[in-house]
Amino acid sequence: MNFDLKTTDPKSQARAGTITTDHGVIETPIFMPVGTVGTVKGVHQTELKNEINPDIILGNTYHLYLRPKLDILEQAGGLHQFMNWNRNILTDSGGYQVYSLSGRRKINEEGVKFKSHIDGSTHFFTPENVMETQRTIGADIIMAFDECTPYPCDYNYAKRSMHMTHRWLDRCINHLKKLPFKYGFEQTFMPIVQGSTYKDLRKQSAEYIANSNQQANAIGGLSVGEPAEEMYAMTEVVTAILPEDKPRYLMGVGTPINILENIALGIDMFDCVMPTRNARNGMLFTAHGTINIKNKKWENDFSPIDEMGITYVDTMYSKAYLKHLFSAKEMLGKQIASIHNLGFYVWLTREARKHILAGDFRAWKDKMVIQMDKRL
Ligand code: GUN
Repeated sequence: MNFDLKTTDPKSQARAGTITTDHGVIETPIFMPVGTVGTVKGVHQTELKNEINPDIILGNTYHLYLRPKLDILEQAGGLHQFMNWNRNILTDSGGYQVYSLSGRRKINEEGVKFKSHIDGSTHFFTPENVMETQRTIGADIIMAFDECTPYPCDYNYAKRSMHMTHRWLDRCINHLKKLPFKYGFEQTFMPIVQGSTYKDLRKQSAEYIANSNQQANAIGGLSVGEPAEEMYAMTEVVTAILPEDKPRYLMGVGTPINILENIALGIDMFDCVMPTRNARNGMLFTAHGTINIKNKKWENDFSPIDEMGITYVDTMYSKAYLKHLFSAKEMLGKQIASIHNLGFYVWLTREARKHILAGDFRAWKDKMVIQMDKRL
């Protein structure tokens, strides 16, 4: 993997760069649509590629390990082949999903014992076996196995957990040295900064992660319920320490406004379920604010879903028609809304990049944050 930092905004920490992997170029800042189980929910690969057009999507180790399971992925020749996606993929390690999805989990120094959310069966993830699993899934970028702490989190717990995440990181790195790539292309490994909402812990963690000297770095444990200002404060502490010449990925963030504010603080990569999850509930993001398409006011609004939208659904269908699909509980409604929202998120990060390259990101960002905060 190669990262080429092209420009830094004169009035903020925002950066524009390119990441090059064996599956192509990723222009940063980038939003990565979430394809948890090997599908970006409700979106065909053709629409994903031709309309939304992201350079990279996400998969989840936790889900793919439980279903379809590793032997199937291995027989398929890895996730790219299995889902017929020949651009970049990043897999999360399961550190977050084990925390958010599995009903009961037990963490100790060795790893995490958890029950599957599908059938209740018991499984054990360790830093070592999660690295093996991610080799088999075969994404281009793979994540360290960490503990994502909840919010709020007691200081002593956050400190103990952060140190354990650091020890787990060393185990991931040591184990990866013994594991050759499986499918003939390189995998880039990303360590994850933790430390909850405590500045001193975030600092320590960022230093530890920077010293591990990997090719790219991530920030976890945010967007777990803390106020946005706390999230931004943590990002600021961490980006001041992480090396400038390596990509920085803020995991699980966030709203369009969160994304622009974090780009301004020096983040290059984002992922979030919000555009697809909220789409399925009838919430549309636009450059002029959010729309609840279930609202009666759209019933006879025959204007396009989003005149400025980049995907064909934006001008092909009216707000009134989409409102009707949601009222009738037709699955097409959720699909249209998902394509629109993902198109918007990808457009937003592309626009941010253009403005960073043009040198006027800060003014554009400030204007967009005000506009996007409206409810239409
Ligand atoms: N996704 C969102 N937050 C996190 C985190 O802290 N760790 C991991 N592994 N994934 C995440």
